[in-house]
Amino acid sequence: MRTEEITGRKIVQLDEKSIKIGWSAPSNIALIKYWGKRANQLPDNGSMSITLENSSTTTYLFIRKKEKSDGEIGMKYYFHGTLNQKFGKKIDLLLSHLVTEMPFLYDYKLAFHSENNFPHGAGIASSASSMAAAALCLVTLEQIVTKRKRSKTEFFRRASVIARQGSGSAARSIYGGIVTWGTVASLEGTSDQYATPFPLHELSRLKQARDIILIVNAKEKQVSSSLGHAMMAAHPYREGRKNQATNNLSELIKAISEDNYHLVAKIAENEALSLHALLMTSSSGTILLQPNTLQIIEEIKKFRESTGLDLFFTIDAGPNVHLIYFEDQREMVLQFVKEKLIRYCENEHWIDDKIGLGPKLLTPELEF
Ligand code: PMV
Repeated sequence: MRTEEITGRKIVQLDEKSIKIGWSAPSNIALIKYWGKRANQLPDNGSMSITLENSSTTTYLFIRKKEKSDGEIGMKYYFHGTLNQKFGKKIDLLLSHLVTEMPFLYDYKLAFHSENNFPHGAGIASSASSMAAAALCLVTLEQIVTKRKRSKTEFFRRASVIARQGSGSAARSIYGGIVTWGTVASLEGTSDQYATPFPLHELSRLKQARDIILIVNAKEKQVSSSLGHAMMAAHPYREGRKNQATNNLSELIKAISEDNYHLVAKIAENEALSLHALLMTSSSGTILLQPNTLQIIEEIKKFRESTGLDLFFTIDAGPNVHLIYFEDQREMVLQFVKEKLIRYCENEHWIDDKIGLGPKLLTPELEF
């Protein structure tokens, strides 16, 4: 790739025939669940998540200028080297929305090459990390093509808006640490359009958060989250859910700032169980929890009672359990997992993760 020094920094030449842009973006696990949405992927309620460190998607976007613009978007999406129609369709849909504001998309052939670093079929939803990585590549491309330099804050905000349009929870994967998405009256700068990093105080215990993902079943969930969100539209508890999530989020913000981790645990667990209660009471009557999920929950509660530790569980839209604990409890927790929980995991499979720093640019020669 030909580059040129401009004011001490390298930028990509616009007349270049091909460009390669790479980002890795992390997965995240929500403590306050986003469940239900309005038009254009705007959330019914605010949410908050922990960005993970070890579970991420790496995406390279290869761009080649077309000989002649033909009014069509030419895009291919490869996952671990194989053409992936399913996720490709989601990216196609996103690009078709974006093309009015990114008309240059007609001028290039795009190929996304994506890989997850968490095992395939680990039951970790990859749409958040994949969509976040794709959005970061697209905003980098936009910046190169339009020569419009954004501040870092503006750059990541734009990526969060675009990631959100592809997959709601992906909006949060644009940032490290603890992240909120959705307008929260008490948090300046928050919006339904994009996520924002949540400011933790210097000694906050959450900076030491770790996550053990207990894989009860690695199969893809029987209900897509799109369908789950759609079912909320006519859900008899929709209004109640919005109020519950809003209250839980403001209580959680208070509990975090007061370092009240027993309350943090109570709220996070209430959110996980509420998500599943909403699934069960929706028109589809979807049950994603499995007997071993319930066994793990029982064991975690017993362990917490007997040790007084401030750890807790949360669950995504699936049967697997995230055990959230803190660095200083690691030895005790690992022993507990080995002695009491592994037996409930499919093929004794669990994943060791922790709070992470957020996306990484893999092609540092590109200015963004
Ligand atoms: O981003 P989506 O549309 O796949 O929805 C994700 C919803 C949950 O994972 C269940 C909760 C959340 O906030 O991450």
